[in-house]
Amino acid sequence: MTLTIALAKGRTTTQVLPLLTAAGIDCQALSTKSRRLIFTENPDYHFILVKAADVLTYLNRGTVDIGIVGSDVLEEQGHQQFDMLDLKTGRCRFILASTPDFDPQKTKRKLIATKYPHLAQRYFQNQGEDVEIIKIEGSVELAPLTGMADAIVDITETGTTLRENNLKIFATLTPVSTHLVVNRLALKQKKPAIYQLIQSLQQVRPQEA
Ligand code: PRP
Repeated sequence: MTLTIALAKGRTTTQVLPLLTAAGIDCQALSTKSRRLIFTENPDYHFILVKAADVLTYLNRGTVDIGIVGSDVLEEQGHQQFDMLDLKTGRCRFILASTPDFDPQKTKRKLIATKYPHLAQRYFQNQGEDVEIIKIEGSVELAPLTGMADAIVDITETGTTLRENNLKIFATLTPVSTHLVVNRLALKQKKPAIYQLIQSLQQVRPQEA
């Protein structure tokens, strides 16, 4: 029985491939720096490489059985599938950041730039604060630097991007890591294979909390 897996391209794939390899899954073909998107040479596991924001689309439509993607995407998009395993890799966190002169206590309605509008909206709603969200596709750090927004809600991993752009963290929201999500129907139809994969990954994922 073949399991079809959508892997979020980029950092997620780079960090997950060693885990898959350690779990005994031959995914050597994915390690090469090529523009290939579909890998079917392993009869047990077929892989497709998709943009992180598209992983749930493939999963929701049943095109793949499993999606491997950051919890940032899962929190932003919401989903009806089974979030089965925290792979404890790809760790980063959501933060509220801005230029050092930003005053979070100011009563003026804030302009917040982010790649995660739903998550940012929820965060401020929970704080009882009404803000205006500006959806940005990337390099969110530019928004407060150019004056387009008062602050950003974004993810940070090493902190390098914030540091090199003289931005300061004003609040830490939630932690983020890579998760394995399973399509509901696939879990019924391919249960043994899926549980075997989960068990193998559980043994090789980073063990710390
Ligand atoms: C993410 C995030 C930050 C950066 C943080 O962007 O939006 O810009 O990584 O990482 P760091 O703390 O290790 O510096 P990404 O690299 O995905 O690029 P993008 O902004 O173009 O989407």
